This record gives sequence, C-alpha cells and structure tokens, in this order.
Amino acid sequence: MFGAGYVGLVTGAALADLGHEVVIRDVLPERIERLRAGDVPIYEPGLDEVLERNKERLRFTLDVNEAVDGAEFLYVAVGTPQTHSGDADLTAVWAVVDELPEGASGRPIVVMKSTVPVGTGERVRERLDARGLTAVGYVSNPEFLAEGSALADFMSPDRVVVGAFEPEDGDRVVELHRGIDTEIVRTDVASAELVKLAANAFLSTRISFINEIANVCELVGADVVDVARGVGLDHRLGPHFLRAGLGFGGSCFPKDVTALKQLAGNSGYPFLLLQAVWEVNELQKRRVIGKLQKHLGTLRGTTVALLGLAFKPNTDDMREAPSRVIAYRLLAEGAEVRAWDPVAHPDDLHGVELCETVLDAVQNADAAVIVTDWPELRSLASSEVRQAMARPVIVDGRNLLDPEAAHAAGFVYEGVGRPRHASPAEPGFLREHDAELRH
Ligand SMILES: NC(=O)c1ccc[n+]([C@@H]2O[C@H](COP(=O)([O-])OP(=O)(O)OC[C@H]3O[C@@H](n4cnc5c(N)ncnc54)[C@H](O)[C@@H]3O)[C@@H](O)[C@H]2O)c1
Repeated sequence: MFGAGYVGLVTGAALADLGHEVVIRDVLPERIERLRAGDVPIYEPGLDEVLERNKERLRFTLDVNEAVDGAEFLYVAVGTPQTHSGDADLTAVWAVVDELPEGASGRPIVVMKSTVPVGTGERVRERLDARGLTAVGYVSNPEFLAEGSALADFMSPDRVVVGAFEPEDGDRVVELHRGIDTEIVRTDVASAELVKLAANAFLSTRISFINEIANVCELVGADVVDVARGVGLDHRLGPHFLRAGLGFGGSCFPKDVTALKQLAGNSGYPFLLLQAVWEVNELQKRRVIGKLQKHLGTLRGTTVALLGLAFKPNTDDMREAPSRVIAYRLLAEGAEVRAWDPVAHPDDLHGVELCETVLDAVQNADAAVIVTDWPELRSLASSEVRQAMARPVIVDGRNLLDPEAAHAAGFVYEGVGRPRHASPAEPGFLREHDAELRH
C-alpha cells in the first residue's frame, strides 16, 4: 500500500481485517514511526482499533523494496491534489510508478485507489511497458469512502468498481474483496476512472442545488428544511446530500469538481453545469458575512466565534474547509476571530485565536457561527452561552439548532434558507442587550 493517508491507512487496515498481509509504505518518516509505535496519525473513528486488532498482519515501512517484495497487489493511495491550472497533480503517482523495482516475480497488479483523471491508467500502462514491466498488471479501483465513516464505507460499500485492461487482473482484484457483500461494477479503465469523478461531481451538484434553493427560500419566505424533505422523499431523487449549509469542502469534492471541469475543458468541452456548482459553493461560504452584518452592522471591531473548523464533523481534515474562507473574510472585515473545534487544531489559521472550549470562544463575542455540525454544538443555545456572549447572535451555518428553542433561549437566530425562523434584524433588540450585556 503506497500512502499512509486517509485512504491508504483505511484500505490497508480493512484489507488486513479481511485476512490479507499488508505492508504500508509512506515517504514521511514521522508518519511511519508513529504507526510503528501504535499511534494513528489521522483522526478516523475506529481506525485505531482495526489497526491494533490486525497488527500481526500489518507492517509499516519507508522502504519501497520492503513494500514490493513478494506483493501480489501494489495499491496506490497517494495524494492527487489540485495544481494551479485545476488539473490533478500526479507527481506522487508517477513517483510510485517510477520506483517500482524491476524483476518482480509473478504478476503483481498496480491497483489505483487514488482519484486520477481519465486516461491516467493508459499513461501508467505505457510507462510500465516502457520500463519493461509488461508483467505488472493494472486495475483502476476508485475509492468512495467518506472521512468520518471510512471503515464502514470500505467494509459495506454501495459498490466496488473494477476497471481492468486484462480481465484476469480484474478477477484477482474482485477476489481480494471476498468477504465484502456488495455490487461489483466491472468495466474498462477509463470508465472506472470517470465513475469516481462523476460521482463526486454529482454529489457536489446536489449540495450546490439545495444551497441555491435555500437562498431562494430566504427571499420568498419558504423553509429549505421542509422543502428538502418534501423533495427528498421522491424515490427518484432520494434524501441524500440535500442539506443546505455553508457549502462543500474537504480533500475530495472541490478538487474532483475542478479536475472534471478541467478534464472536460482540456478535451474541448466546457462543462457549464460544474462551473455553476463551483461558483455557487464559493458564494455560499461568503453569505455568512452578510448575515452577520444584517444583525451587527459593520463587523469592524466585533468579535466573532467560529464553532467548528473541520470541513465536516468526525474528521480533523481542514483541506478546503469553508471555515478558512469565512475566517479570512471576517478578518478582512476587521473582526476579531476566535475558533473552536474538538479535533481540528490547525497551525496555519494566522490571525485566528484557537480556543479550548466553546465557552472560551463565545466569551464576550458579538456573534457565534456554527461552521461544522459537530454534535457538541447541539446544546449551543444554552443560558450559559447566552450569558457569556456580548450580543446573543447565532448564525447557524448548518441548520443544526432548533430555531424556536434558540429564540426561546433569548438568541437572535439565523439559519440557512429558513426565513420564517430568522429573527428580524431589530437593532433595538440588540441595543437593549448591548446595554444589558456590554460593559
Ligand atoms: N480522503 C478521502 O476521503 C478520499 C476518498 C476517496 C478517494 N480519495 C483519493 O485517494 C487519494 C489519497 O487521498 P488521501 O486523503 O488518503 O491523501 P493523504 O494526503 O491523506 O495521504 C496521502 C499519503 O501518501 C503519501 N505519499 C506521497 N508520496 C508517496 C510515495 N511515493 N510513496 C508512498 N506514499 C507516498 C503522503 O506522504 C501521504 O501520507 C487521493 O487521490 C484522493 O483524491 C480520498
């Protein structure tokens, strides 16, 4: 297994749990040392237990030869971030392919777990052949796990997609999944590659779609939570990914939407729908600023608490997290920004004060913004928090709280796409509290 990140560690641990011998190789010495010492370098629920339970079948190494020696499958689970042009950066993939030693016995199969542009399999095949590694097979086996539920997603997936040049190579990868009860989609390499990009682009489209519906709700007086429920109960549509909020982030959706948009553009097709999906997502994060201004007026000199930093709950992943954009927009508006997250403690949010507890973050704050729907925040609308805040304004970016309960507890509440539940902008109301609460 090349790559000891989210996908590599989870896949490696899960394959070991299925009874296979797994060697996980990474290039980061610190990461490998921690894993050898029994310490898990990422936050993923349950991963520590599965690694511990299978420690007899798992090894960690920096040495490529140790990883490849006797291996029947060579999994590639390295990062494929976005370049400035929007294309996927395949540097780490090529590094793995180029360092595969020659003269392996049998027919090891390169299994591509990393998300790569369509055509990558063909290029890897050519590169292997050019090095004389014609006896090394290649299979595209994209990964659909979601951080936070990654192990369960791997063990009970909706499907396993296997795209192979040689059917026998595909058969062997399918066989490796024995013990997992699911649909297997057998196809060619290019189609397997596109399944992954299309799936993430479609999920992102649903999120941007419901966010636009939420924005319309705010203008016409409808409640997006009820609208989404009514829409999602249609069996042709289904309920998933119809939660309005602050937009998508994370290591996958933004880069995969961009990669597919770029791939289509490179091939001469402007993917207009995905351009809109992207724009809507960028605007959605920034709408928080307008909501705060509606209640606070200018943000210069105010203190705003950002509650939740990770791009979604149950992960410490800060890649492309909406909290980053919101924090820097607030700083640009002249606000002081405090932040709390139970697991994400980034050291690169310059100018943002990280707090240990929610109460520390909201102390004397003029507003609190729920950025990530951590379960801990369900009880935010408490009298303790109300007392701590200078002005009791909550912008609920994830529609996590019960608006009526928040009002009843004395908060000015503003969700996403819920105008009936938004407190009217009543300067008088806030001035009253100003007098009472500001010293
Ligand atoms: N994170 C997710 O939820 C998720 C889900 C599905 C698919 N994917 C895709 O899987 C791939 C990996 O994603 P991730 O989130 O696990 O990335 P990650 O950044 O968490 O981990 C990648 C790891 O690969 C290591 N690496 C780099 N070069 C290497 C080399 N030559 N040999 C061995 N290791 C090397 C890095 O040091 C790092 O530890 C990406 O293409 C991503 O798009 C991710």
